[in-house]
Amino acid sequence: MHTINVILWMTLVSLLACGMVSSTRAATTTPTALQLLRSKRPLVIGHRGYAAVAPENSLPSFQRALAAGADLIELDYYHSKDGVPVVVHDDTLDRTTDAVQRWGGSKHRPGDYTVSQLKELQTGLWFKPPYPDAPFPTLTDAFDVIQKGSVTLIERKGGDAATCVQLLRDRGLINRVIVQSFDWAYLRAFRAMDRDQVLAALGPPYSRDGKRLTESERALNARWLDEIQSMGMQVAAWNKQVDKTAVRAAHRRGLKVWVYTINDEATAHQLLDAGVDGIISDNPALIWKCLATRR
Ligand code: G3P
Ligand code: CA
Repeated sequence: MHTINVILWMTLVSLLACGMVSSTRAATTTPTALQLLRSKRPLVIGHRGYAAVAPENSLPSFQRALAAGADLIELDYYHSKDGVPVVVHDDTLDRTTDAVQRWGGSKHRPGDYTVSQLKELQTGLWFKPPYPDAPFPTLTDAFDVIQKGSVTLIERKGGDAATCVQLLRDRGLINRVIVQSFDWAYLRAFRAMDRDQVLAALGPPYSRDGKRLTESERALNARWLDEIQSMGMQVAAWNKQVDKTAVRAAHRRGLKVWVYTINDEATAHQLLDAGVDGIISDNPALIWKCLATRR
């Protein structure tokens, strides 16, 4: 049954790629966050959209991830100077926008500019080949693309939890998206304000109590899982330091395990063998291929 489902998905992805069916599933059929957590197969999650083929965290990247049938589409946000969540990965605009060419200087931070100033920027000119029409997106611009047929995996890089909670409530998006962060204080603050929203703890932390952690201390283990569970999270989103024992321990606690950022088939298969519940990849179609070709 699992194999048949995956083959059907692969067929759909091929048809979408050929333009034979609409790339936008009806919004009413888009799964909720809770339905995704109940999935019987591992989830395919596009990292920064479909960053292997389009400029990361841009609207074209999100459109391509949608066309590739990604279950979730990940992005990163900071706040603009006037407190609007805007989509960008780095803490400066220099690498992925034309801020330096347009404004001169360097180290342009999203929080130094209003949203109307940020809207002057393009996000696809640095990419090879360049995308000439990829305007700088706010978080709501991204929702308007992604939520037509997928689920946004929002990674908070900067900004307070209250603004995100309010934005999701205002737009009716609580549990129509999933929120994650490396900043566990932000996640605790979010959970204190909202009991329902599905949240993912990104890990591993680099240090604890001012002490840098070793590689083995950073692997997913019972201690991390206990902490994540006690914070009221639903997902541990970890890097590759995940094994079968850790996934079993997570499942015993009612937690899901997702892994990032997996861009090669061998690692994807190794993590699928370990039983992970989701794979975050720059190349969602590669992960569909892995699922389709597993015995
Ligand atoms: O989704 C997890 C992953 O995006 C975290 O790392 O640096 O790509 O935001 P980064
Ligand atoms: Ca991210």
